[in-house]
Amino acid sequence: MESMVIQGEQRLSGSVRIGGAKNSALPIMASTLLGKGSCRLTNVPQVMDVSTMARLLTHLGATVESDEDRFSISVNEISSCRAPYELVKTMRASVMVLGPLVARYGEAVVALPGGCAIGARPINLHLAALERMGAEITIEHGNVHARAKGRLRGARIYFDVSTVTGTENIMMAACLAEGTTVIENAAREPEIADVAQFLIKRGARIAGAGTDVITIEGVAALRGADHQIIPDRIETGTYLVAGAITKGDVTVAHCRPEHSEGLLAKLSEAGADLAIEKETIRIRATQRLRSVDLKTLPYPGFPTDMQAQVMALMAIAHGPSMITETVFESRFIHVLELQRMGADIRIDGNHAVITGVERLSGAPVMASDLRASACLILAGLAAEGETRVARVYHLDRGYERLDTKLAGLGARISRTKERP
Ligand code: EPU
Repeated sequence: MESMVIQGEQRLSGSVRIGGAKNSALPIMASTLLGKGSCRLTNVPQVMDVSTMARLLTHLGATVESDEDRFSISVNEISSCRAPYELVKTMRASVMVLGPLVARYGEAVVALPGGCAIGARPINLHLAALERMGAEITIEHGNVHARAKGRLRGARIYFDVSTVTGTENIMMAACLAEGTTVIENAAREPEIADVAQFLIKRGARIAGAGTDVITIEGVAALRGADHQIIPDRIETGTYLVAGAITKGDVTVAHCRPEHSEGLLAKLSEAGADLAIEKETIRIRATQRLRSVDLKTLPYPGFPTDMQAQVMALMAIAHGPSMITETVFESRFIHVLELQRMGADIRIDGNHAVITGVERLSGAPVMASDLRASACLILAGLAAEGETRVARVYHLDRGYERLDTKLAGLGARISRTKERP
């Protein structure tokens, strides 16, 4: 296993190019299962989760070719309708093959994902919605087994909780259902609108993606299409925080500022100087930022996927702040590691009360999930001395060459094999 070693207190400056959105690429790749024809995708991020999805699709019978950020996927026939536990347990997003498989082939066996470091993360809403569309669902030997006699039926689906992959799974399945499906209280994340754009190019009839009511009129078949994945708004946010936390001057290029409004508002409130253009954001922070309170919410609220990174920033901001996590019940594991670096943070239920300290001190710390890893790297960039972040495989699941990109901005960061 590898660690990331950072010598902190380097002011970052320069420009960094943002890659494609992981959470858009994954459902779009899963959705290639919905029809024949070649699908050519560009701006696909080169991260482990994308490789895992490519392996899963290949296992199911897809032909997957890739060259850097370009993927070509065709699924003329499947050789299996089974997503095995070995793949699902390394990546929960594997459950997104469930909707497409049952819609096109009438059967899917997908391992139940099980526990996760950030919360329980059940998929009950995905399953209940597929049942309403006529699928018969059973849980056997740790697998979800979904069967449909003929085509799925369009249905009215109301999600009690806003669910991103749930909305995507059902939107994808509904493309091939007989009749109209209406998803109410649909999640509104930009990635969902991106998936819909791709499906529409393939011949799907979808209206309202990106709003909380999505209407899908089922069609008999989808064709191949080309698509460019939208930029990653969480990668964007992570580099903005890197600029702010090192009192630097960083320009984030090839991003979509309109997808990061919640974060930009908070950075501005904290005193960062932001210059926003159509596809770039420049952040400058010459002095210590002010503390701000925030609450994570489904889009367009403040993203839970940026909570840990902003907590690192608040750990050295001026004054107290309160961060409330409302999306996942246990997404505070990074707090214990930040405390090892000298942060003053108290947890009370789903609230974290942070009293900013003058400086953090470098320490060996352990990453527990993808965004917690980013938080610890950011803390290390600001901290005095050396920080060693262990278990960086979490980071590689969702950040494209984070160490190389940070080094390009002047960070002193390197990878090393973990000491025994
Ligand atoms: N939920 C249920 N039942 C369900 C589905 C969800 O109770 O059937 C609950 C969850 O337990 C959670 C809330 O609903 O409390 C929201 O979860 P959601 O389903 O929206 O999360 P997800 O679809 O599993 C995606 C992203 C996550 C991101 C969340 C929230 C992908 C592949 N993953 O997960 O990304 O945190 O939405 O925005 O799109 C990450 O990239 O680091 C990451 C974890």
